[in-house]
Amino acid sequence: MEFKFPEGGTPLDPDEIEGLLIPTISTRYELDTFEFENNRRASEWVDTIRTSDILVEPFIRKLHKKMFGDVWRWAGKYRTSNKSIGVFWEMIPEEIGVLLGNVHFWVKERSIPDDEIGARFHHRLVSIHPFSNGNGRHGRLMTDLLMEKILKTDKFSWGDANLSQEGDMRARYIEALIEADNLNFVPLIEFVRK
Ligand SMILES: Nc1ncnc2c1ncn2[C@@H]1O[C@H](COP(=O)(O)OP(=O)(O)OP(=O)(O)O)[C@@H](O)[C@H]1O
Ligand SMILES: [Mg+2]
Repeated sequence: MEFKFPEGGTPLDPDEIEGLLIPTISTRYELDTFEFENNRRASEWVDTIRTSDILVEPFIRKLHKKMFGDVWRWAGKYRTSNKSIGVFWEMIPEEIGVLLGNVHFWVKERSIPDDEIGARFHHRLVSIHPFSNGNGRHGRLMTDLLMEKILKTDKFSWGDANLSQEGDMRARYIEALIEADNLNFVPLIEFVRK
């Protein structure tokens, strides 16, 4: 089986596709539908969690598991192969630790604006690319939780678009992430409040 993934998405290896838990899925549309439903239930679940649980390493994995655990066996587990995006897979736990250290510092000091904290956190999380797939959706929900539950501000609008779908807004989102790779966070900060 082969699924076509949008530009800027990470294609799955055959052994990752092996991890599909619903054997009847045979098209990209069906996959999207099951993932969407799984993600929707995860969004309901996040309303019930305690604030102090979020910015810790096990929560990063737990949220991914909640979002994709009905569909993929490897949900909630860091990837074990390299992708076109992301750090070497062996470095993922360490890089996640560094990111969490940084975000704790930014939240404590509040010396950079809240939106920049959110943009920097989101960019670094999707750049590490901890999972085989679902990094974009997971990274956006993680960032929503940071904004709402930790920084106590409005979550981002993310261009008011479904960024998982190919189109103009997704292209602008990916361009803004690439700019952030060069430490220019302005396009991303502007994009996420559009
Ligand atoms: N050049 C880049 N630098 C940093 N992050 C990137 C880059 N290109 C893509 N990304 C991130 O990777 C995500 C795609 O990765 P992946 O396919 O694992 O996630 P997804 O949730 O399945 O995708 P989607 O964003 O389409 O919902 C993008 O949404 C974006 O957040
Ligand atoms: Mg994807």
